[in-house]
Amino acid sequence: MMAWMIPHFRIERLDEVDSTNSYARALAEAGAPDGTVVVAERQTAGRGRLGREWHSSGDFGLWFSLLLRPEFEPQFAGMLGIAAGVAVVQSMRSLVGARAVLKWPNDVLIDGRKVCGILSEGRTVGQKLEWAVIGVGINVTAPEGGFPSELEDVATSLAQHCAADIGAPAPDKEALLDSVLSQFGARYAMLSSGNVRAVRDEAEELMRSFLNRRVTIRGQSGTMEVRTLDLSEDGALLVELDGGEVAKITAADVSIGTRACARGELDA
Ligand code: BTN
Repeated sequence: MMAWMIPHFRIERLDEVDSTNSYARALAEAGAPDGTVVVAERQTAGRGRLGREWHSSGDFGLWFSLLLRPEFEPQFAGMLGIAAGVAVVQSMRSLVGARAVLKWPNDVLIDGRKVCGILSEGRTVGQKLEWAVIGVGINVTAPEGGFPSELEDVATSLAQHCAADIGAPAPDKEALLDSVLSQFGARYAMLSSGNVRAVRDEAEELMRSFLNRRVTIRGQSGTMEVRTLDLSEDGALLVELDGGEVAKITAADVSIGTRACARGELDA
């Protein structure tokens, strides 16, 4: 089997941009290589899933996008966002001991509140994934004046937890970026060498608190109450329907009680 190296990331830094995902998509279309990273201090039009706005007009967070040109089958594209989620959770745990967990497919929560969101986009031509852009938004500190009222109950920042749990400030953004890139690089190399199972197993472990739970999923065919089971080989969510039947969810909003949503998909 071919040995896959951890990619060398080439970082492009911007003070301000509309969205690092949009910028990275344009770079992808212009032929920029695998491993290009776009980091911005502020976004004027940060995007979340489902066309939502991502609050990132200030420099309180780490806002970046990874441009990838994976060699593996498009079927496993969803694992890229999951691998990024794993990288963020492991970085928060190892840098500051945060009680970070993963919520399918790739939201990162601390004490039930969202500290990081991930937006995966890509282009598939025939059977080939031409490029993928994985956008990561981490609330390192809270925005000046706090989160807007609609996010108050669902969002948090790493700094809030560092202050409460270790009595220290949050790690600086450079240290966090370094760690997330190196953790992601290791999982990307695993995916590229065909070891999808190892990344999936790790993600499942980090999602344990979210599995075997009653959740509400909202998809194209409506809203359903289901019980979460585990992850499929390609990172989809397996759930048990009320009749006992097992269904595979590849793209849906998932909510536990009244908490925030997640959607698993690679938007073109
Ligand atoms: C979500 O949870 O809805 C996904 C949020 C993703 C936000 C990041 S911030 C960097 C990158 N650029 C964007 O416009 N969005 C992603």
